[in-house]
Amino acid sequence: MAKLLAVPGPKAQHYVEKDSRYISPSYTRSYPFVMERGKGSEVWDVDGNRFLDFNAGIAVVATGHSHPEVVKAIQEQAEKFIHMAGTDFYYPQEIDLAGKLNEVRPMEEEVKVFFSNSGTESVETAVKLARYATGRPRFIAFLGGFHGRTMGSLAFTASKAVQREKFFPMMPGVVHVPFPNPYRPLFRGEDQGIAVLDYIENVIFKSVAPPSEVAGILVEPIQGEGGYVVPPESFLPGLREMCDRYGILLIADEVQSGMGRTGKMYAIEHSGVEPDIYTMAKGIASGMPLGATVARKSVMTWKPGAHGNTFGGNPLSCVAAMKTIELVQQKYMANAARMGEYMMGPLREMQGKHPSIGDVRGKGLMVGIELVMDRETKEPASDLRNKVIHESFRRGVLFLGCGTSTIRLSPALSITKDEIDEGLEVLDEVLTVAEKEFGL
Ligand SMILES: Cc1ncc(COP(=O)(O)O)c(C=O)c1O
Repeated sequence: MAKLLAVPGPKAQHYVEKDSRYISPSYTRSYPFVMERGKGSEVWDVDGNRFLDFNAGIAVVATGHSHPEVVKAIQEQAEKFIHMAGTDFYYPQEIDLAGKLNEVRPMEEEVKVFFSNSGTESVETAVKLARYATGRPRFIAFLGGFHGRTMGSLAFTASKAVQREKFFPMMPGVVHVPFPNPYRPLFRGEDQGIAVLDYIENVIFKSVAPPSEVAGILVEPIQGEGGYVVPPESFLPGLREMCDRYGILLIADEVQSGMGRTGKMYAIEHSGVEPDIYTMAKGIASGMPLGATVARKSVMTWKPGAHGNTFGGNPLSCVAAMKTIELVQQKYMANAARMGEYMMGPLREMQGKHPSIGDVRGKGLMVGIELVMDRETKEPASDLRNKVIHESFRRGVLFLGCGTSTIRLSPALSITKDEIDEGLEVLDEVLTVAEKEFGL
């Protein structure tokens, strides 16, 4: 039995209260974890309690918290210079990183890179570029998709209504279609991937958005915020074929799924499909803010002044990203594949004994556990999920949710077998307690 921690402790309570006075109430904390420091997958709160982190700052610290080599690279760069504005000046750190991203690209054709500071900016850039490159105004996006919260990206985000409520109108021209979800099929037929493609072709293109006006289809190769949903194998190749047929750009949002998390550098590589544009942020620089929009050379041909920014490609972020990619290539991508596979064993066993586990899915260290009140009706168990997450926190393990009733496991790619065992043991224990409370 895991020890119950006295959380929040007095210092944490102090900061939670102060936070409520000064910080925007739009933030969504699931529990009062107030961080003091972290190392790898271990984190400590301000009262000295130790936790295992199964989220890595929402799939960000790919190499673990404060990896010594990443810290050293940032420190050395900070001594030299902290900022110079890549839009107006040259510096090797940004140029070398773009060269490295070209090296690890998921496609034949060479790429060019635009740097920003976050996921939403990388999506804004992709959307602008797609309009610029095609001269077309419209886009297709997917229900359940999450692409950020600035007005352009928000027009594509369709994960939770609260994220859009009171912000209408956003950028016009985006049509949402269902994302193929094998666990919750919306269409008749065995293959939801084929069904969604058919719906785009025969309903959307024929009634709402003529394909000749569609600039791009923006898709997460594995849906993240929407519930860690892995589409059927038919889906991405079918989208690629459709894009080729109509001259539409295929834009892969790899902000959450990229940088080795799924056991390949980019999640889209599992499908063998080459995107035209892809976006990155989160895991790219182990926690330093950085976004990147990468496109085929033949697509990124906009003229000087068409797009730019002040802070994108910050040199500290660039050296952190260089080191991150090096470590991911050397060992952590392989570890993500191995640990992801390993984790599936105990999770399937837990699914056998816990009636609330409806579905376990994912690739590498992008794993979702969807909880239901009843396996027949698949009624989402949101309250039970929230209870499990909160009780895990009290026992020293940090999980986050995604979708309506899914627990998201997105730890650092450096997580060890022992740490996984420790976290899943707590999850197992907490599920038993919560199921009893909810009458399952
Ligand atoms: C797939 C995807 N795209 C874009 C974003 C937005 O990134 P940011 O929060 O850095 O703006 C997120 C964030 O969760 C994401 O998961």
